[in-house]
Amino acid sequence: MIIQSERISLKHLLSVEALSDLEVMGLIHRGQEFKKGAKWNPEKEQYFATNLFFENSTRTHKSFEVAERKLGIETIEFEESKSSVQKGETLYDTVLTMSAIGVDVAVIRHGDEHYYDELIESRTIQCGIINGGDGSGQHPTQCLLDLMTIYEEFGTFENLKVAIVGDITHSRVAKSNMQMLKRLGAKVFFSGPYEWYTEEFEVYGHYLPLDELVEEVDVMMMLRVQHERHDGEESFSKEEYHQKFGLTEERAERMKKHAIIMHPAPVNRDVELADSLVEAMQSRIITQMSNGVYMRMAILEAVLTGRS
Ligand code: CP
Repeated sequence: MIIQSERISLKHLLSVEALSDLEVMGLIHRGQEFKKGAKWNPEKEQYFATNLFFENSTRTHKSFEVAERKLGIETIEFEESKSSVQKGETLYDTVLTMSAIGVDVAVIRHGDEHYYDELIESRTIQCGIINGGDGSGQHPTQCLLDLMTIYEEFGTFENLKVAIVGDITHSRVAKSNMQMLKRLGAKVFFSGPYEWYTEEFEVYGHYLPLDELVEEVDVMMMLRVQHERHDGEESFSKEEYHQKFGLTEERAERMKKHAIIMHPAPVNRDVELADSLVEAMQSRIITQMSNGVYMRMAILEAVLTGRS
């Protein structure tokens, strides 16, 4: 496994695909350093960040706020409902404005996949862009905090068996994680309703029924059923989903002793996994949330350093 202690600098963070293995490992190590209490030595006295969330969020939005405060960055509040977006202002013009008034970095979550393309192509927008989730596209900061959590547990990705289970079609977490996990040497498997396992996943890993997977894998990564993106077309009840595709207490008991349970959250308790498993000993769901702050500190540092 690559050990990288050199400080990483990035212009933007838009997708994990664009990161080299060295950059990924550098960010993981820096996240771990921040977790142990490391401090940032910024090149400028004052930095401004803004968090532009056009889709709902608790973890990503609030952990970026905590990360910004821990680094001493000034956070410029933005609420879509009180902004000029209500007068018809576009995302492009909103970011253009933030850049013009001196914001150094904008964290953006938006429903459109690749919303960031026109922002990074602009000659006028000067601020760094961190993708906090684009539609059903990518969620690179979640992927990196997931990788940090797995690395913290196992010290490597090579030959780890990782199951990604559930609503893979709509999950930006699944897409970011399958790409990076495979690249870093893990063996990826998928499970959940078979009709959600489409061609794009085949190159990253095989589909197996959950009852076969539970005894095999080191990491059981459960995904939220994204009811809001299903247009009311679900063919199963929540109880049926849990019994067929969810991590029940019985299935969890069959996992390897050292295996861990992950979920990006929010969790539909008793749907993707049993209520009692969310805070169980094998669960790293709370660690994922805590690690989110340290990984986002590492990402903010990398982007602000990259623009200094
Ligand atoms: N995991 C995640 O992205 O959670 P939020 O939607 O609450 O940010």
